[in-house]
Amino acid sequence: NTPLIITIDGPSGSGKGTIAQRVAKSLGLQLLDSGALYRLVALVALRNNINADDHVALAHAARALDIRFEPTDTGVCAWLAGEDVSLAIRQEEVGLMASQVAAVPAVRAALLDRQRAFAQAPGVVADGRDMGTEVFPQATVKVYLTASAEERANRRYNQLKAKGESVNLRRLLEDIQARDERDMNRQVSPLKPAADAVIIDSSQMGIDEVQDAVLALVDKR
Ligand code: C5P
Repeated sequence: NTPLIITIDGPSGSGKGTIAQRVAKSLGLQLLDSGALYRLVALVALRNNINADDHVALAHAARALDIRFEPTDTGVCAWLAGEDVSLAIRQEEVGLMASQVAAVPAVRAALLDRQRAFAQAPGVVADGRDMGTEVFPQATVKVYLTASAEERANRRYNQLKAKGESVNLRRLLEDIQARDERDMNRQVSPLKPAADAVIIDSSQMGIDEVQDAVLALVDKR
C-alpha cells in the first residue's frame, strides 16, 4: 500500500499552491504546504526576536514547533500552539523571513521528518521548493511549475488589488526576483527541477489547463 506522492515545486507565484490544492482535492489526497512550515518558523522567530543569523535558536524553534494543519476549502488552516495563524503567516514580512530561515541547514534538517510524515496512504500532494529533489526523491510524479517573473508579479499584483491593497508592480517584481535569487542560489536544497521532473511553464496557461496537465501526468504513471 505505497502512498501516491505527487510533488509540485517551483518559484513563488508560479501557482503551485493553488494547483497542489486542486490536485489533492480532486484525487482525495493529503496536502503538504511545505512553505507554510518555513513561514511558521519565521513567524515564531519574528515574534521572539530571533535573528535570521542565529542558526541554533532557529533550529530549536523549528524542532519545537507545536503545529497542526487542518484542510479547508481554500488550502490548509495553520494552528500554532492552538492559535489560528493562517493569515499571519501569509504576510509579506513573514514570507521574506521564511526565505531567510529556509537557507539555514539545521532548520531544513529539523523539518524533514515532519514533512515525510505526510506520505501516508492514499497519498500526498506536496508543494514547495525541494519536494522532488530532497524530501520525496521517490515521488511517483514530479512537477516543476514555473512562469516568467513578470507574469508572476502581475498575478500577485491582481490578487493584492482584488483584496483592496495598494501595491506597486515594480516593487513586487523586485521582491519576486530577490526571492528567486535567494531560493535558487542557496547552498542547501536550492530551488531546481529534479532530474526526473516534468517542467510546466504556466506563463501562457490558465489554472484549469495546468490542473489538467498535472492530472494527465498522474493518469499516465
Ligand atoms: O511557498 P512559500 O512562499 O510559502 O514559501 C516561503 C519560503 O519558504 C520560500 O521563499 C522558500 O524560501 C522557503 N521554502 C523552502 N523550501 C520549501 C518550501 C518553502 O525553502 N520546500
